[in-house]
Amino acid sequence: TLWPVIAIDGPSASGKGSVAERVAKAFGFHYLDSGALYRLLAYAAYTQSVSWSDAAKLAVIVPSMDIRFEGGEVFLNGEHVSVHIRSEQMGKGASEVAVHPEVRTALLQTQRNFRKAPGLVGDGRDIGSVIFPDAALKVFLTAGVETRAQRRYDQLISRGDTADYETILEDLRQRDLRDTQRSSAPLKQLPDAMLVDTTKMNIVEAVDMIVEAFKKTA
Ligand code: C5P
Repeated sequence: TLWPVIAIDGPSASGKGSVAERVAKAFGFHYLDSGALYRLLAYAAYTQSVSWSDAAKLAVIVPSMDIRFEGGEVFLNGEHVSVHIRSEQMGKGASEVAVHPEVRTALLQTQRNFRKAPGLVGDGRDIGSVIFPDAALKVFLTAGVETRAQRRYDQLISRGDTADYETILEDLRQRDLRDTQRSSAPLKQLPDAMLVDTTKMNIVEAVDMIVEAFKKTA
């Protein structure tokens, strides 16, 4: 059986993670945070002194990674790495390793293995276009870049980090460019995707929209 997939793609800091997790909970589905896989690879490469531009070496690291998601926490080869991979540095590293087609191919099956009973909610950039093109529901979740920068800023401050709004804004603009302009699986709004713009919408409203839309596909 091919279990149903809800694909939620969109730019950095659009709230995909929080929304996807809640949609998954609403239906008792599994949740795939695909960005975490690219962050894990960036982190593994960093600890092994492999450059984020070295596609061949990066592709070799992928099969050596033992990745486990447990209760919202991420483990790499037994090490608890949630905090390490959530840094702005690893976000940047993720978007650099993600441009290589070799890396994307190496991570393809890992992502498809998350499709299990009774269903899956996956978030990322190419979940609806490449990983699960047969998804029952495709969502393009976005918000204006200033809104996303402000949310990322608030999030960093609330967890006690230091943050500079202008730096975050510039960083997001660069990451948007890298994610949308790359030749391999660029981020784009698919013609068959539902647009959810959260610039003037909160998480609960976005989740409700998606939950109702998925119910209509059944
Ligand atoms: O979603 P998150 O910010 O954790 O993703 C980090 C980076 O990983 C993104 O900027 C993007 O370049 C890359 N990514 C990707 N394809 C995905 C998920 C993330 O290229 N499906």
